[in-house]
Amino acid sequence: MKTLISTRPLANVETPLLAVVVGQGQPAPLKDAGLERAIASGDYKGKKDETLLVYGSGKAERILLVGVGKAGEITRSAIRRAAAIAAKRARGIGTKSIALAVAQEARGGLGAAELAQVVIEGAAQGGWQFTELKKPPEDPKPEVESLELVVDASEKNEAEAGRRIGDAIAAGYLFTRNLQMQPGNVCTPSYLAEQARKLGTAHGFAVTILDKAQIKKEGMGALLAVAQGSAEEPRFIVLEYQGGTGAPIALIGKGVTFDSGGISIKPALNMEDMKFDKSGATAVLGAFEVLGRLQPKINVVGLIPATENLPSGTAIKPGDVVKSHLGKTIEIINTDAEGRLILCDALSYARRFKPAAAIDAATLTGAVVIALGHHAIGMLGNDEALLAEVRDAGERAGERCWPLPLWDEYRELLKSDVADVKNSGGRSAGTIAGAWFLREFVDSFPWVHLDIAGTAYLEGEGAGHAKGPTAIGVRLFTEFLLKRAGA
Ligand code: BES
Ligand code: MN
Ligand code: ZN
Repeated sequence: MKTLISTRPLANVETPLLAVVVGQGQPAPLKDAGLERAIASGDYKGKKDETLLVYGSGKAERILLVGVGKAGEITRSAIRRAAAIAAKRARGIGTKSIALAVAQEARGGLGAAELAQVVIEGAAQGGWQFTELKKPPEDPKPEVESLELVVDASEKNEAEAGRRIGDAIAAGYLFTRNLQMQPGNVCTPSYLAEQARKLGTAHGFAVTILDKAQIKKEGMGALLAVAQGSAEEPRFIVLEYQGGTGAPIALIGKGVTFDSGGISIKPALNMEDMKFDKSGATAVLGAFEVLGRLQPKINVVGLIPATENLPSGTAIKPGDVVKSHLGKTIEIINTDAEGRLILCDALSYARRFKPAAAIDAATLTGAVVIALGHHAIGMLGNDEALLAEVRDAGERAGERCWPLPLWDEYRELLKSDVADVKNSGGRSAGTIAGAWFLREFVDSFPWVHLDIAGTAYLEGEGAGHAKGPTAIGVRLFTEFLLKRAGA
């Protein structure tokens, strides 16, 4: 999607679709007979998500009003969402390009840079569709190819700065979403590794890929244990972006390219969604796409343990004991608790980078869906300051995190009769138990765990959102890193 900042008066914008974001009870944003009548009649109120499409009498062929609710309640997320609704509508109508403006009273105090960034983020979200694996339709609806954001002339430079960030985030976001969508027979561990390698080549950062033999040599017994049931070989992917000085931030993503549960096999219903079990990994890759484009002054290491989790005659069994990279032994209670097994080896591998902070993203537990539904990431960690920093980044990104406690009492859940730790504590406090397991392998660096099982993909369509993958984490990681880089 091409983006452009323009400063023409709204009445002069020639476009197939002019979307204007307006607040509740606000006047028509431009002189147009149809628009003014619709608002005067009270038919259109400007409530959150409320839209009105009229055929313009001026230069814009169509005008779409998108409501964002009452003036005092308009947030950054609300504007991003309105832009997503507009882009989704444009895609539905089939217009190739769209112009968008946010009425002054509907800006919720956002500066022009922020405004441009979130509008582009929203448009990338709403305009997305995945048609790659379908036969081309007879009457194809074009993608939204260009977005023109109309601002005041005095704000042009500031908006351009925001556009640069928005464009990069949109690219990372689309990269991630398309990768998430790939089925398990396409997106295997070696395919994920290939994607990482391509990113490194495109943007000039180092990518190292460990194959099965190297993973074995490295002593990653827990990752190997999960992989041993599958004909596809595992990979351990290391990305190193160097833009600054000082200790790096480590981003770690769960890369289970398909999770059947293994011998502790999952029920058939919705099992196809377990192709999304690589969503932590794809978020890390998307963040590196953004880093490559923005080149911020910071060092970042990406770590992705990638494997399938399948049942077979060579698969791990409940009761097996395996030795992790850190040296701790693990009793496998449930082979479906595989995410923590592969992540624990990545967390222990991270020590060699002496990270200033580590953040992992993982579709780790069904329990987080029970606790928080689909509207928040479950967040746990060992450092209050880092937790607050990640949470703030999530707020800015519109990827909200909510804390769960990691009190010592919960450690009991993971006591094993035969090994140092067991991989499942049963049904109670599932998300906390998963995080406690990971914590056992975090050695001397601040760490936050993001459980994205409820937010990585959506089972239904939203107002500004297609069904399916959400690229959750890409925007949060970016916000976190840009703030740390002082950008
Ligand atoms: N990948 C699943 C978690 C998941 C569930 C992701 C629903 C997305 C939607 C994970 O590997 C898993 O199976 N976790 C188990 C852990 C349990 C066996 C301790 C779970 O949540 O049931
Ligand atoms: Mn599982
Ligand atoms: Zn899983």
